[in-house]
This record gives sequence, structure tokens and C-alpha cells, in this order.
Amino acid sequence: MDTIYNARWIASPLPCGEAAYALEKTFSVDKPLRKATLQASAMGVYVLELNGARVGDQILSPGWTDYRFRVQYQTYDVTDMLRADNRLRARVAKGWRMHPRPEWQGGPSRGWQESRMFGTNTAFIAALSLEYADGTAETVLTDGTWMCSQTGTRMANMYNGETFDATFCETFAQPAMEVYCDFGGKSDKPYPVRLLTPQQNEPVREKLRLPAVRVFQTPQGDTVIDFGQNLVGYVEFSVCGEKGHKASMRCFEVLDKDGNVYVENLRSAQTTVTYYCDGTRRTFKPEFTFYGFQYICLHDWPEDVKAENFTAVVIFSDMKRIGHFECSDKDVNRLFENVVWGQRGNFVDVPTDCPQRDERLGWTGDAQVFARAATYIYDVRLFFKKWLRDLSFGQFADGSVEHVIPSLEWLDGGACGWADAAVICPWEIYQTYGDREVLVEQFASMRGWVDYMRTHSTDGLWLGGDHFADWLNLDGDAPTSKPYLQNAYFLYSNSLLIRTGKLLGLDMSVYEACFDETLAAFRKRFMRDGRITENTQTACAEALAFGFLNDEEKKSVAAQLADLVRGCGGHLTTGFLGTPYLLRALSDNGYVELAYDLLLRHEFPSWLYSVDNGATTIWEHWDSRNPDGSMWDAGMNSFNHYAYGSVAQWMFECAAGIRHDDEHAGFSHITFRPLTDKRLRYVKASIDTVHGLAAAAWEETADGYLYTFTVPQGCTATVILPGQSTQIAAGTHTFRS
Ligand code: BGC
Repeated sequence: MDTIYNARWIASPLPCGEAAYALEKTFSVDKPLRKATLQASAMGVYVLELNGARVGDQILSPGWTDYRFRVQYQTYDVTDMLRADNRLRARVAKGWRMHPRPEWQGGPSRGWQESRMFGTNTAFIAALSLEYADGTAETVLTDGTWMCSQTGTRMANMYNGETFDATFCETFAQPAMEVYCDFGGKSDKPYPVRLLTPQQNEPVREKLRLPAVRVFQTPQGDTVIDFGQNLVGYVEFSVCGEKGHKASMRCFEVLDKDGNVYVENLRSAQTTVTYYCDGTRRTFKPEFTFYGFQYICLHDWPEDVKAENFTAVVIFSDMKRIGHFECSDKDVNRLFENVVWGQRGNFVDVPTDCPQRDERLGWTGDAQVFARAATYIYDVRLFFKKWLRDLSFGQFADGSVEHVIPSLEWLDGGACGWADAAVICPWEIYQTYGDREVLVEQFASMRGWVDYMRTHSTDGLWLGGDHFADWLNLDGDAPTSKPYLQNAYFLYSNSLLIRTGKLLGLDMSVYEACFDETLAAFRKRFMRDGRITENTQTACAEALAFGFLNDEEKKSVAAQLADLVRGCGGHLTTGFLGTPYLLRALSDNGYVELAYDLLLRHEFPSWLYSVDNGATTIWEHWDSRNPDGSMWDAGMNSFNHYAYGSVAQWMFECAAGIRHDDEHAGFSHITFRPLTDKRLRYVKASIDTVHGLAAAAWEETADGYLYTFTVPQGCTATVILPGQSTQIAAGTHTFRS
């Protein structure tokens, strides 16, 4: 058993509010060491130092899980950091779940603050195992002998930022307090160590550093620095000011239409770094928080503002980059880059809706609609497996799934398209990486959600409940109805569950009978003469994508979808739920040119509208910013929301033509089916699959197209080009048409 299970949770004996406190232990090592291993975790977030040097390069540890059920711990090899006399020091702040919640999330007194399990305190736990060369061993564990101090970090709050006082002197005058469970009353039981679990996914790290590109004065006279990219992380800066001078910076995403600082869309999030100078030049960066921003506005800066003194540090979960896409249209390439940046910024340990305002939550629907695109760009296998485990831990007894994961313990659940993340996300992970384990691990959770829909359905149809529907669609007065979406997802999730169950060798006849009953009822209620009675792009796209239409129905629903696109002037009207499926529903059913029309369209509403308007990430709304530069709205307007970035899946699967074969998950057999368009001269894409590199490229030639396909070792592929279908083996192959 890992040593950390023998340690005690400890904390500051004095209430620290939002300040970070430090815990320290001195000890000596008087024999030659063979190996020293340090394990640590916190309720909150921690930074560890041994003999003045930072331990590990991961940030925001221990990461965000459903702390009611588990808290991750990290393991570090510190053999080379030890000497005869040692000082181990941890600083602890509130982190994701412990900081006060804004009013709309129930206010400061809700959520974590009243959590049954951990009470109101942050806490820290660590175990250092010393293995000596002579074969003996020793441990240093957190307990009441550790000493505690306040720190220069006077405030650390995920939404509001960080305040650091460089003049502050730490004094370890007080012993730390061992902390006990708080189940709403007194308890003499230590915080449960059984909740500790090894880190499951890649930690969050500092991944990129971007220099400031411009320092300027706004028309209103503010001094602003532009980093040229909407990003997630913080700013590292060097500053020198008189002792006690208070300087600050506000991080924000966009300028308003007049070029002034715009912070309204951050809502209550203060996103501010405040720094009290100590008279010397120092380099500082926040350690317990992050921001979504492109710009910073400086207040009371004590010296001339020089761009070289400011660097944006980009953080995200340290996943391996696997997918690349490029074509001859620079705006489409920028769009793809925007998707990549959206993924980086919203894959900070948990898949979040947005990284900047007072939200940053693991909204299930957002994660679900972006999941497939995400699997192609970065290797998100462990990232999603961790999140899905928290999803199943937090799943309600009746199978319903809370809207945000990790749970906030107060939001409702059970919304169609959102709760379906329980089924769709594991399926996507399995499809892209061939990881059967995720299906084994998540099967009960997947079935739980389908059972919820089953038990809430009558005569095959699931009606009622609260739903977000096709969130942020542009259908005006006649959006896709909730009953339609509920039952489309019911069919889709059940079909994936059935396939999963069969893969695992289970009898799925109950679910198959349920599927047949729902499909019959669905046809009766939502289809007439082979067409969908809901006349929206989302309704048609989902019916085509979810695989429950017969060939004849597909033809007429595709024609209906094409009519809808053309009928409204050739633009999309889909919201979160319809968008991932729209282009493929068209291009796989005879309307390739129309799909490209939507991809290449510049006028609002379209993907390239945001690119033309300077977007460097994906916007929450098709019109987050209006053509005149004004904003859609102050209240809910993120400029870094990955949902519409789901278009990247079509770029890989259809424009480049690298497709999973359903029967051969993990790309063990690939279908290459690129779709050309005369407006593009070339397209190339690659995915570093679990078997090796899969790549597809096409380019225009004098008399047609030249195609190149790369099949990873040990894999096979089918190439489908106009008028030809060929089987190919591993290696690189060229074709012409
Ligand atoms: C989030 C969305 C989320 C939605 C649910 C919003 O506040 O930002 O992306 O899915 O709530 O309707």
C-alpha cells in the first residue's frame, strides 16, 4: 500500500480565508540514499518545495475530481533533491472546488463550503519514503509535528485571481492542525485517506510561452498589453516598485467596439493579479489560479511598461498532440487553429464550457458535442477516462447525470444531449483509440443513463424533464422541440449502449426491444412521408447522423435538410446539438458542395464569420460579436467555447477523409474517403493513431486530383474515390482520379 495512506491530513490552525498558507517540516537524512519518493495531495491545490526548489513541474495539483468520492495524489522522485538537512514546504490554496461560489452557483455559502465530507477547510497530506542504500527505510509523514505559516499569497481564487505581497515574511511559529471529518457535526475521525487515488490523467503543465505583441493606450486611457491570442494561463512579469507599492493587472478576452477594455462578459470573475512590490526587481506569476484572456490592463504600474517584461504562460493538460489539418484556404486553417486553441484552453484537467467568466465548469453537453473532434487533435484518452469516472461516481441513483461534472452537488441533471455524455463520450474514446477498457469501466454508467430514459418513457417515447435543447440555435420561433431531441438522443444512446453491450458479450435483447419500440413511436410522431415533421436543420442532421433511418428515409431527409439550408439563404441555423452532425449529414448523403458552402461561408452566421472578425478561438455564439463590433450580450458571451469547434471532426473525416471503421475501433482498419471541392487546391491531415501515423492528402492536378494515403503498420484501409474502391495495406499509396 502506498505510504500516503499512513499520513494525516493537516491544515492551518487559523482560518486563512482565501489566503494560501504554508506547511513545513524539517528533517535530516544521515545515510546514503537509494531512492526517495514523495507523494502528496490536497483539498484545494498545492505547490511543493524541497530545499527551496519546486518539486515537479505540474500545476494546480491534485487536479479536479469529485472530491466526495476521490482525491488524486501525485508521486515525485525526489532522490536528487535531498541533502543532510532538509526542508519540505507545501503551500495550499482553495483551488477549484473550495473557493467561494458566485451567487448564480448558489453563493459563497453553497456547494463545497457546506460539503458534507470536508467541511470548510483546505488540507494537505504527504508522505516521503526514504529508501537507504543499506536496505533500511524511513518515512516522513504529514502530522501535527509540521509547522504552519501564513504566506505572501494573500488571496487566491480561481475566478477572482491572486494577490501577492512580496514584502511578506513567513514565520513558521505554529504547529499544523490534524484535520477531521466534518459531517455537519463534530467528529474525531481523520479526513478519510481512503479517498486518495493515484493521478489518473496527464497533469496540467505550462505548455507554451507567448510574448506580448503590443503595448498600447486605449481611447479611455488604459494601458493594455495584447498577447495576440486568446489563451488560458497567466502572465509572468518582472517588476520593480517601491516597497509596499500596489500594482495590478486585469486579464480579459476582447476589446469593445471602440477599442476599450471589455470585462462585462467575465461577469463576477475579477480575473485580477495584485502585486505588492518590495523595492527589488522580481519575477512573479500566479500559482493557484488561471485566466482566459488575450489582453491585460495594467493599473498603477510602478515603472515604464515594456513588452519584454510580460510573457503569457499557456497551461493545459499535458496531452500528446496527435492530429493536424491544413488546406489551401488560410481562413479555414485559422479556424482549425482556433479549434485547437479552444481545446487547449478548455482542457485544463476537466473539459469546461469556457475558461474566463465565473463559470468554467465541466458542462456535459459541451464535452459531448466536442468529444470526437477532441479525440483527433490531442490524445484525450486518459483525460476523458478520468472525467468519465467522476461522471459515474456522481451519477444519481436513478441513472440521471448532473449537468456539470465534477458535480457541484446542487445543479440538476437529466438533460437530453447533456446527460448523453455518459454514453457518447466513452463510445468516442473507444472508437478513436480502440480502448475497450473504457467501455468496461463505463458500461454501468452508460446503462444507467439509458435506463433512466427507459423508465421515464411511455409507449416508447421519453417526454418531460428539463432540457437545454439545441442550445443557442438560430431557428427563431420554431426551434427543434425538446420531445424530438429527447427521443433522437434516446435512440442514439441506446443504439450505442446495445453495440457496447454486444462488444462485451452481454445479452442486450431488452434494450433492442426498447429501441424498436422507441423507433416505431418516433417514426409515428416525428416523421411523415419519409420526412421529419420538425422542419429544422438540427432535427434532420441528427436523424441522419444517429443511424436509425432506412435508405429511403435518408434520401428524403437529406433532401429536406438541403432544402432547409438553401431555403434560409444558404446558412446554418444549428445550435450546440445539431452543429457536430450538420456537414457530414449533408456530405455523406449527396450534398458535398453544400457542406463546403457552409464551411467556406464568411457571412454571418458561419464559422468563418468569427475568423473574419479576429477570432483566435471558437466563440460561444455564432454572433458573439456583431458586425458593427458590438457584443451579442454581456451576460453569456464567451470568446472561448469549444462547442462549435466540433466542425474539426468533419475536416478530418470528410475534407481529408480519414474515417474510423466502426467495426475496427482505433483505426485498425481505416476508410479513406476524401471529399474534394474546387474551391480548395489541397487538403492534408494526419492522426497519430494508437497503431501509428494515419494520413490523407489530396491536391488538384492539371487533369484531376492526386491522393496520398498513409496506413499505419499492421493496419489495412479501404480507399473510396469517385468510381473506385480499393483495399490497401500498411505504407504510403498514391491514387489519381
Ligand atoms: C454554458 C454552456 C452550457 C449551458 C447549458 C452555459 O452557461 O456556458 O456551454 O452547456 O450553460 O445550457
